[in-house]
Amino acid sequence: MEQLQFFSGRGRNGEFVRLPRAYRQKVKWVPHIGDIFPDFDATTTQGPIRFHGWAEGNWTILFSQPGAFTPVCTTELASLARARREFADRNANLIGLTNDEVQALKAWADEVAVLFGTPVDFPLIEDSSGLLARTFGMHHQKESGNVTIRKTFILDPSMRIRMIFEYPLGVGRSTGELLRTLDALQHQDALDVATPADWQPGLEYVLPMHVTAEQADHRFGRGWTEINDYLRVVDPAALVERHRRITRQSA
Ligand code: BEZ
Repeated sequence: MEQLQFFSGRGRNGEFVRLPRAYRQKVKWVPHIGDIFPDFDATTTQGPIRFHGWAEGNWTILFSQPGAFTPVCTTELASLARARREFADRNANLIGLTNDEVQALKAWADEVAVLFGTPVDFPLIEDSSGLLARTFGMHHQKESGNVTIRKTFILDPSMRIRMIFEYPLGVGRSTGELLRTLDALQHQDALDVATPADWQPGLEYVLPMHVTAEQADHRFGRGWTEINDYLRVVDPAALVERHRRITRQSA
């Protein structure tokens, strides 16, 4: 068993946390939800890019993979490529990142296109030095050493990180869950609602705590129901009707 030395921290209210000292010594910036994603230059399968110039104004799915020509990564790449129209419908662009050189990434993308009958028409970033993966917290030493884990960022059009997924080497990601999360974020932004567990488009929303009953009446009319003072649900049909009414009034 690994010997760990512990650092003990105490919060303002006497709360206690026991953190291995080694964790403390490693503290550096890791991307968090709410941070603006840093800009960077990259070589990709579609030529050189400056990231913000390429991404700003659309939603972005930036995903890292352990490596080209490997089994799980290949199925992930094919799954994302197959769903390219669904991402485009949501105004979202895909961009991958691995530790491989760009020639290998191009050859791999061509092979995936043949194997799965779907073009890989989004860029893959060469990160052969590992600089980007290290900076963006994509190396998890105990899982994979200096091999990149399966990390996904959803960035909004202003480059703010809205969602972070982390998967280990042996578990392939779900494209369906990625699309569902993108839908949830976009509905949240458009309607000031939150989405409950296992939500799918068309199902009920819940009201965030900050929305008052008066605001809910104003926005949703009779389309919302108070189950108790913190659990309030919104019928999506009420929103469709409300949008229709607003459109009619302003026509
Ligand atoms: C894979 O995609 O299957 C894989 C890649 C690198 C390490 C382990 C698994």
